[in-house]
Amino acid sequence: MKENIYILAIESSCDETAASVVMDGRTVLSNVISSQIALHTLYGGVVPEIASRKHIEKINQVIETALHEAGKTLDDMDAIAVTYGPGLVGALLVGVAEAKAIAYAAQKPLIGVHHIEGHIAANFIENKDLEPPFICLVVSGGHTHLVVVKEYGEFEILGRTRDDAAGEAFDKVARAIGLGYPGGPKIDKVARQGDPNAIAFPKARVEGAPYDFSFSGLKSAVLNYLNRAKMMGETVKEADLAASFQKAVVDVLVEHAVLAAKELGFDKLAIAGGVASNSCLRASMEAVCRKEGIRFYHPSPILCTDNAAMIGSAAYYEYKKGVRHGWDLNAVPNLKLGER
Ligand code: KG4
Ligand code: ZN
Repeated sequence: MKENIYILAIESSCDETAASVVMDGRTVLSNVISSQIALHTLYGGVVPEIASRKHIEKINQVIETALHEAGKTLDDMDAIAVTYGPGLVGALLVGVAEAKAIAYAAQKPLIGVHHIEGHIAANFIENKDLEPPFICLVVSGGHTHLVVVKEYGEFEILGRTRDDAAGEAFDKVARAIGLGYPGGPKIDKVARQGDPNAIAFPKARVEGAPYDFSFSGLKSAVLNYLNRAKMMGETVKEADLAASFQKAVVDVLVEHAVLAAKELGFDKLAIAGGVASNSCLRASMEAVCRKEGIRFYHPSPILCTDNAAMIGSAAYYEYKKGVRHGWDLNAVPNLKLGER
């Protein structure tokens, strides 16, 4: 294989239009993200059709900027990588069609990447020493998975959510207390002024499945608490509610992930996905891992939420394995982790 492998990666699975140039899977030469958050905030959540339309408007400029900032041309690229699932189908299609057109015109190999594999790979970018096997807790807006990363791109799923994803719970609770979209970062911020022990919310465990998660009961408990307070004419301390809810989520995430690491004998634990940028989760995981003698890995917040650098990192390891997709690559909105 030639000395340095350069990959142009594209990500458009939800509401960020992103492109990045990554060298050898771990060196990010550019990481351009055009966020649609302000637009979707007007509607209280991501509107799929608006997301697709925005992607098509922005994608060429985002790619051009990514190549320019990296000081590279399309000719320098060894492969074109793109997220092809899971995600919003119309949003994915924009990135997939773009990547196919570029790869075809420039006669470059095409590599389709699983979005969650990308989130996990975000850990490789700043942690040069991290190599599989390790345990990874994936917590995003659509996914909550506890996995063993057995090899690059090879996963064993230990547990998953039975209902809402962790990020979804943050978004729904934020909406209920009037914080708006996107809920995660807003709850994170407000919770800093609150008492996490003010309200004892339930920490749901799934009977007989110690690595599974369930957040719908917690969400209902928060809604019931709000309704009760309203009926009694009591004022709710927003910061205390946010901090107590956040603690209930974080405690369960940390307990399950650390239990898996201990029971399965792993001394490396990573976190990934948008919720991995939560300050309470990072601090709590750090403290518990230190106590248990587990090495804790996490990406910087900008690499936790959707970006294309993580797709470029995952694509490099697929490229090395010889994975290439054909011109018939399609968007797969419900693509399962580990499927190709
Ligand atoms: O990974 P991501 O950017 O997109 C998906 O693949 O879903 O994750 C987005 C999710 C949203 O639910 C958002 O509220 C949540 O991550 N999130 C956070 C924080 N930042 C983003 N949740 C808690 N605390 C945060 N600081
Ligand atoms: Zn994501």
